[in-house]
Amino acid sequence: MNAVGRGDFRRQITVKGDDELSNIVRVFNDMSKNIYQINSRLRRFSEFTFFLFQQQTEDDILNLTLEYLEKIFLVDCAEIFLQRNNQDTVLRSSESCNGKNVYTKDLYINNVTIGTVKIYRTDALTEDEQSTFGLFATVVSRAIEKIRDYEQVTQIQEELLHFERLSTVGIMVGTILHEVNNPLSVIMGYSEMIISEPLEKKNVQNYAKGILESSLRIKKTIDDMLIFLRRSDREKVCMDLNEIVRIVLRLKNIDLRKKNIKVFTELSEAPVKAYIIPNQIEQVLLNIINNAEYAMFQFHGGGILSIKTRSINENVEVVIEDNGPGMSEDVLGKIFDFFFTTKPPGEGTGLGLPIVSKIIESHNGKIDVKSEKGKGTTFIISIPRAHDDKETA
Ligand SMILES: Nc1ncnc2c1ncn2[C@@H]1O[C@H](COP(=O)(O)OP(=O)(O)OP(=O)(O)O)[C@@H](O)[C@H]1O
Ligand SMILES: [Mg+2]
Repeated sequence: MNAVGRGDFRRQITVKGDDELSNIVRVFNDMSKNIYQINSRLRRFSEFTFFLFQQQTEDDILNLTLEYLEKIFLVDCAEIFLQRNNQDTVLRSSESCNGKNVYTKDLYINNVTIGTVKIYRTDALTEDEQSTFGLFATVVSRAIEKIRDYEQVTQIQEELLHFERLSTVGIMVGTILHEVNNPLSVIMGYSEMIISEPLEKKNVQNYAKGILESSLRIKKTIDDMLIFLRRSDREKVCMDLNEIVRIVLRLKNIDLRKKNIKVFTELSEAPVKAYIIPNQIEQVLLNIINNAEYAMFQFHGGGILSIKTRSINENVEVVIEDNGPGMSEDVLGKIFDFFFTTKPPGEGTGLGLPIVSKIIESHNGKIDVKSEKGKGTTFIISIPRAHDDKETA
């Protein structure tokens, strides 16, 4: 009796007689048994909701649901029907089902039924179990809804990324033309000289060397552009971030020079390797550099951009610092919001940094921003370091 009083509802009090007191004790025993069952059902239920919202796919949700239908409601058998986005219906079932008492609850998203959960049990569900079953179907619906929302957001993000890339490419076309035009003029000049003048062999060789160098420069530019345009990159590869910094700086070189921006780099001598999707990380650096370039040029018609890479503990970092106008705390608090921009209409859409943040998040990294009004801004991108040095890109 004391044990039950302390909350141990598993305990039953031994009772033999048939008098009034013994009957009261029997009622008392039934009561504590019920409390014990409700208690353990609640515990299993909260354990279920805890795991449920950590599942990554609908299949995982269905498997967990089936497992806990058995654990919570002690069913003989359970079935789940679920309509997938592509309209197929999947059926999950613990075994071939036929039981005496059948209970059904709908799964729904936004009031539209997307499936059904059915349980079969020899004895009837108590009222309390029935209401828990209702709640159970509701949380399963919410978990599926969450996964479907997430998949939709991921798809929108990919489209945004592509859109952002195309607009960056548009801006870069001018730069690229410039970068191709100069070596092309050199090639034409040397070729004309070779054709029009009788030359000594040594001079022909020198001019041909000049032609080769300029051609290589053009090829390099086109290669970089192609790397940047490669949309199909989805797989992470182990790559040295220094490489990415170099590619991005080559792309931005002329643009930055035109805006009177000096670039200082301090790249770690040892490779700073991480598992990355290369064109996404290129896009991250481009977005941050474009912002710095714009801010510095507006602020004092030029400036200093410094880019460092380093390994710190288990991470590799890229640090991008400008000496532009900096940001107020108010602006700083909003820079990762979609469509937040302080630029005039037509000059910024406010997508740059939100995309940066999503990309870094999907690389399990983090971004730190320090900014001081009138002094400048520093972005620190940090990504887990790759340990497997065998697989290099
Ligand atoms: N280096 C920086 N110095 C000062 N302000 C910055 C800097 N980087 C970002 N910002 C601020 O953050 C805002 C949001 O940046 P974000 O890249 O997301 O959008 P945007 O550059 O305005 O437009 P978009 O990149 O879509 O063309 C900018 O409008 C600017 O106010
Ligand atoms: Mg931007």
